[in-house]
Formats: sequence, C-alpha cells, structure tokens
Amino acid sequence: SAAEKGGFDWFMRKEIYEQPKAVADTLLGRHDTEGRLTLDEIRISEAELRRIDKIVIVACGTASYAGMVAKYAIEHWTRIPCEVELASEFRYRDPIVGPTTLVVAISQSGETADTLMAIRHAREQQARVLAVCNTNGSTIPRESDAVIYTRAGPEIGVASTKGFLTQVVACYLLGLYLAQVRGTKFGDEIATVMAELATMPDAISRVLEDMDPVLKLASDFVDEPSVLFLGRHVGYPVALEGALKLKELAYIHAEGFAAGELKHGPIALIEDGLPVFVVIPPRGRDLLHDKVLSNLQEIRARGARTIVLAEADDHEVLPYADVLVPLPRVSTLLQPLVATVPLQVFACELATQKGHDVDQPRNLAKSVTVE
Ligand code: AGP
Repeated sequence: SAAEKGGFDWFMRKEIYEQPKAVADTLLGRHDTEGRLTLDEIRISEAELRRIDKIVIVACGTASYAGMVAKYAIEHWTRIPCEVELASEFRYRDPIVGPTTLVVAISQSGETADTLMAIRHAREQQARVLAVCNTNGSTIPRESDAVIYTRAGPEIGVASTKGFLTQVVACYLLGLYLAQVRGTKFGDEIATVMAELATMPDAISRVLEDMDPVLKLASDFVDEPSVLFLGRHVGYPVALEGALKLKELAYIHAEGFAAGELKHGPIALIEDGLPVFVVIPPRGRDLLHDKVLSNLQEIRARGARTIVLAEADDHEVLPYADVLVPLPRVSTLLQPLVATVPLQVFACELATQKGHDVDQPRNLAKSVTVE
C-alpha cells in the first residue's frame, strides 16, 4: 500500500531515500570515541585473525559489486591479499582455501543459494567464514562462524540499493578492524577513515537533495537501446552496478567497463550519440582523476553523449560533460557511497517512465534460493 511505501511510488525509491539512515545505523556502536573499532560480533579470536593470509569474498550480483569495492579498501588497509569471486563460480573450480583463509560471504537476504553453497564448500576446507548480511537469523549467517549485520532494515524492492551501500560500509568496518587487530602500517589512519565514514550519511543526503537533473535525464532515455558506464578503481564496480540496475529495471542493454580497458576493445562501440555515464574519481595526489578525465575526452571526441559524475567544483570535466551530476567531495575509497546513488535514482526513474514494475521486475526474484 501507499502507506507502507511511506508516500513513495515504489519501495525502491523509499529505500534509496533511506540510505543516509541505513549507513548511519550500520556504523552505530561499532567504534569508540577515539575512532577505534569495537566489532564484538566477530567471534573469531584476534590470534586467529592475525594468522589469516588470504581473504576471499563470495557474493552474487550487487553484493558482489560491494565486494569488489571492498577489495580495494581491504587490501590497502590490511595488506592481506583479497579476492572477490562470484559465489556461483567459486566451488566448482576447486578454489584454494584453508584454515588461514577468511571467506567473507556478502548477502542482503542471507538466503542466496549460490552464496550458501560457496560457504558450505569453504567450511569443508576448514576456512573461517564471516557473513555480511542484512537479515537476522537467515541461513547464511547461521552457517557462518561470525556475522556483521548491515542494518539497512527490510529491503523489499528486488533491486538492491540500501543493501549495497551498507554492505560496502560493513566490509570497510571489517577491513579497518583487521588493520587494527593486525597493527598494519596503516593503523594510524583508522580514526581518520572512521571520522570520514561518520560524515557519509550527510553526504548521501546532499546527493539526494539534488536529483532533479537525473530525474529529468531519465525522460530523455525512454527510447534509448543501450547505455555504457565507465569507472576506474572503486568507480569500476560502481559502473557495473549502474549497468546492472538498468538491465534489471529498464530492460535495456547496459554495460560497465573499467575506464582503462576502453582502449583494449570497448572504445570501438562509441559512436555518435551513444550515452555513456562516467564516474570521475575525486581530485587527489594520485593520477586516477586525470586518467579517467582523459578517457572522458577520448569518448567525447568520438561522439559519445556523456553523463559525468564528478565533484561539484571539478571544472576540468565541464567542457566534456553533456550532463554533470555533481558529487560532494569525499576521499577516493568512500566515493562509491555517493556515486552509486544517482545511478540508482536514474534506473528507478527510467523504469517508472517506461511503465515497468520497479519493485518486481520481470523474471527476477528478491532472493534466489535455487542454484
Ligand atoms: C540486485 O539489484 C539484484 N537483485 C541481485 O543482483 C542481488 O544483489 C543478488 O541476487 C544477491 O542477493 P543477496 O544479497 O540477497 O545474496
């Protein structure tokens, strides 16, 4: 009913707007005032956590993209090698896992069969399994050694939104906790990252207040047959997520690419008028921003119609942006928490304009309980 949707037309739209709170709730009580992590729910001893020499994240769909984002942060903070694998691929290839492997299973529902089978396999190989899950008492956390609950509240829309953002946050808490326990060189910066994470609910709210350009854009896309998404580093999984949302909801061909991979093939797809969303990294000391800026210039020169997600005052992108979607200034690793939001809003709105059932897209189920 309309009341259940809190006055929104779809659960999905309601859930998009709940993201500031979902992120705040997921952070709540998990650190002290000095910015040290207190993840009591991780019932794996510190001695054991110090012995871990490999992390394998298993998940499906949007949850796997949260895992891809997390890999960048976890490896940077902990220096533990971290792989991300689609749960449906994991156990059928005889993966190398053992007692010193931490397998992290990310699942909003906690009932995804592919992910469940992956953790059963991991446990048979004596690996420690930690679930990142949104559903209390569901099967995946019950069959894991420990669980970090995302506190997004019930996610009803088939397309995952607040699930994704809170999965990224929970994985970041895990990464920071591991860095803390293991005393990595990064240790001093933990409090700095925690302080910035605490500002994210506000940053996400600011993005949501400024969605008019994105809503307007959706009405121009009703007859568009294909849309591309480009990103690099943590912006790459954001691009994949933007594309998945369009497939699921708008039923159009959409593909995400790593921006640096363009010249190895996908740039051949660029032709006059092809819409391409580009996620521009924040300006910083590394070269990431400039690299993606030059990719933007390349596709624009070949006729692409560009929708550019960049820091609000990033004047360098302006000459190459047909549409600019402004983002607040955040550090690179936290950018997915703001950059994903306009892509969710865009997909939700485009599907609405096309007359699709946003909450129940064709052929899909909220949780996929068969392999
Ligand atoms: C996301 O929009 C999808 N509907 C889907 O990819 C989903 O994220 C995937 O099936 C995993 O679900 P889970 O998080 O409940 O395990």
